[in-house]
Amino acid sequence: EKGGYPHFMLKEIFEQPSAFSNTVSPRLRDGKIDLGIELTDEQLKNFKQIHIVACGTAMHAGIVGRYLIEKLARIPVNVDVASEFRYRDPILNKEDLVIIISQSGETADTLAAMRLAKKHGAHTLAVVNVVGSSIAREADSVLYTWAGPEIAVASTKAYTVQLSVMYLLAFKLGLCKGTLSQADAVALIDELAGIPVQLQSILGHAEEYKAIAEKYCHAEDMFFIGRGLDYALSQEGSLKLKEISYIHSEAYAAGELKHGTISLITDGVPVIALATQQRLCEKMVSNIKEVKARGADVLFICYEGYGDCSEFADSVIALPQSNDLFAPLLSIIPMQLFAYYVALLKGCDVDKPRNLAKSVTVE
Ligand code: F6R
Repeated sequence: EKGGYPHFMLKEIFEQPSAFSNTVSPRLRDGKIDLGIELTDEQLKNFKQIHIVACGTAMHAGIVGRYLIEKLARIPVNVDVASEFRYRDPILNKEDLVIIISQSGETADTLAAMRLAKKHGAHTLAVVNVVGSSIAREADSVLYTWAGPEIAVASTKAYTVQLSVMYLLAFKLGLCKGTLSQADAVALIDELAGIPVQLQSILGHAEEYKAIAEKYCHAEDMFFIGRGLDYALSQEGSLKLKEISYIHSEAYAAGELKHGTISLITDGVPVIALATQQRLCEKMVSNIKEVKARGADVLFICYEGYGDCSEFADSVIALPQSNDLFAPLLSIIPMQLFAYYVALLKGCDVDKPRNLAKSVTVE
């Protein structure tokens, strides 16, 4: 049932190109996006505010969703952890769209948050992987991700397909709002459709990431830093690592480190620094130099052809060149594999980490 892989997690990491295609291709036709939901373009155009509500990894997909939607459709988006959202008396209106993201479709807090949004008359759109699950049944609209069953407790392919749906939604909303031109949308859709090929080529580097994991697997603490979309990905990379390897890890917005956390950076502390966002790269490099000066062992994740980074990077993971907007889909792969190999080398139960359940039905 593991298809020749030693763990479900590894199998699911390698299933990402096909999970992505299965989720994205049926929604693309002749350069157009058909989400297959009953919301009309007019309705999509009229949402004044978007809330994205989810837990854990699904919430991290929501953070990427916020960047994409705000950038391409210019609609304000807030992202909330479901267990916080439901108890803070959120400001919800009938003109709001509430996007609920959940792999299992059964997470108790996420389901309760959705019910609350419905009660306030907002339109609820669920992005769910398990067909017929509670969230899928109760939402006003459903966008299924087609990752297939995810068995490993640590979510991998479900996250990637959640991201893929965030791209489709952002493109669609941008088109309906008129903030994204048809020509630009066609180019973006074309790039999105080409992602599986890039994923496949990154997966071909698994052994390289294993060698890097060997170098870092004895660490007690690690820090993931990034700016913009890289910060969103840092949060997911850090969660993946800590949940299966039990190494304490934190994700920080690179510019925020100096406001406290940098006091934890001492000789040999690994810092995984993502730098795929060209616009922020220079600022990122100066943050990396700050941690380097305090003794950090820097694993630098950038694009191929970055040039000389020997001054501040101790190890490098190079991703294929890409439009910065799509970098999250690429950088997640080495981070998942890094977490997997670190956990494996430490002898952890990769598919069933302690204290965790696949579906969290308690509040
Ligand atoms: C992390 C992980 C969890 C889930 C979270 C939400 O790898 O799996 O953080 O993402 O419990 O679960 P769903 O998506 O089923 O609502």
